[in-house]
Amino acid sequence: MLSGELVMLKTSHRGKVREFIVNVSEDDFHTDFGKIDLSVLIDKEPGDAVISHMGQEFTIQRPRMPDFFNHAKRSGAPMMPKDIGPIIAYTGLNKQDNVLDAGTGSGVLAMYLGSIAKRVLSYEIREDFAQIARQNVLSAGLDNVEIRCGNIIQEIASLDESFDVVTLDTQDSRHVIPHVRKVLNPGGFLVTYSPFFEQTKDIREAIEAAHFYDVRTMEFSEREISFSDRGTRPATARVGHTGFITIARK
Ligand SMILES: C[S@@+](CC[C@H](N)C(=O)[O-])C[C@H]1O[C@@H](n2cnc3c(N)ncnc32)[C@H](O)[C@@H]1O
Repeated sequence: MLSGELVMLKTSHRGKVREFIVNVSEDDFHTDFGKIDLSVLIDKEPGDAVISHMGQEFTIQRPRMPDFFNHAKRSGAPMMPKDIGPIIAYTGLNKQDNVLDAGTGSGVLAMYLGSIAKRVLSYEIREDFAQIARQNVLSAGLDNVEIRCGNIIQEIASLDESFDVVTLDTQDSRHVIPHVRKVLNPGGFLVTYSPFFEQTKDIREAIEAAHFYDVRTMEFSEREISFSDRGTRPATARVGHTGFITIARK
């Protein structure tokens, strides 16, 4: 592994998996299972093991976006992977894309988009939330996700950049939509996320008034299957309703 690289250390204790994300450095890392000398990681590869001073073995993995999702600090409700996946698929997000996102919240959507796109610019109205999201972005090692504090309704009007995808996850998205055409490249996508039918209806009206193509509103569900000695069935605890996703094209 390289100096400064992010590494996930995973161990099993009494049937439970515990994991930690660390940087390769000269420091010691303290866990309930003993101290780990992080400098030894430099000579290791993913799949190798390190042993704490108490003899606990940790497997080395390279962290990926689902790990950063699990470890991110939450300022509010982050978007769930079941909703992020379709946004990436239906917009065809790729490494040439510039993305405008609001509100940042914990930065989870911005980080997932940033792990694929060229650049993500995300606006968050609350400075304390913006700080948490910046910390999450830093912890994920992403240098192409910029978080600015500001009200997207005002900020979008003065932006002189253009974007391939615009994602809106704010209560007042309908007031942002009239300005989106100005900053969206031809053929680019607008995506909104809204938990309520009423909010979604307002969004649809605003999109219609702004003359977009191919407008669709969808809800995505996730049903995990549980396997046990008693039988196999859909898990009784599940991710319930989250939000509606509306996608439109310029
Ligand atoms: C549900 S959260 C977004 C979660 C985010 N998509 C994620 O995956 O972590 C909505 C955020 O929008 C912010 N917000 C609300 N109105 C805003 C506005 N007009 N401009 C910028 N941010 C706004 C809120 O402070 C809140 O943090």
